[in-house]
Amino acid sequence: MPNVLQLKNFQLKNKVKFLKAALQDYKVGALTPSSKFVVRRILKELNPEYKFIVEYGAGDGVITKEILKILPRDGRLVAIELNGDFIGDLRNIEDERLIVIHDDVNNVCKKISQFGLPKIDVVISGIPFSLIKPKIRREIIKNTYNMVSSSGRLIIYQTSPLMLPHLKRFCGTNVRWFFEPRNLVPYFIMVGEKN
Ligand SMILES: C[S@@+](CC[C@H](N)C(=O)[O-])C[C@H]1O[C@@H](n2cnc3c(N)ncnc32)[C@H](O)[C@@H]1O
Repeated sequence: MPNVLQLKNFQLKNKVKFLKAALQDYKVGALTPSSKFVVRRILKELNPEYKFIVEYGAGDGVITKEILKILPRDGRLVAIELNGDFIGDLRNIEDERLIVIHDDVNNVCKKISQFGLPKIDVVISGIPFSLIKPKIRREIIKNTYNMVSSSGRLIIYQTSPLMLPHLKRFCGTNVRWFFEPRNLVPYFIMVGEKN
């Protein structure tokens, strides 16, 4: 078991690594991994019976690892990440339920069936939609909505409520959102439910 000092040291190293990646690639869209407050808020939105989860923009795996802690044994988590610096971190997570995809979400969400999930209960997206062209943004949301099972969820966290109208277009009144200020650049966490 690592002691508190070792844990703090590890967390600091991760933050520095994340910052370096962010400074080299604007598409990272954040300066640090999501705070524990953001992670907790997102995990609260996962029903214990959710087995098949897709994560867009998994980064260094700060949320991925926590999802795996609560994912049923026969569950699957597909983590999609574009930035090569983070792929190593994700692949170092030893868990046979995890499938790591090094690609653009826009490509993967068109062919998600190839990963063999019997259904998708929830998609959690941290990709910075504000940096993506409006046409592609709409395409991603449409494809994502279509691939989520009925009564499944789409969770989007980012620095602006930009995607709220998009979620409302598909999920109607079944949309909730939260503001989490305890993050370096506060996040809006938006949750849409499919009927
Ligand atoms: C705001 S960070 C979130 C990282 C991590 N999930 C967290 O909560 O700390 C967004 C992540 O999405 C990735 N990303 C951005 N655009 C992407 C795309 N089109 N496809 C896949 N990943 C993308 C970035 O490289 C970055 O790791």
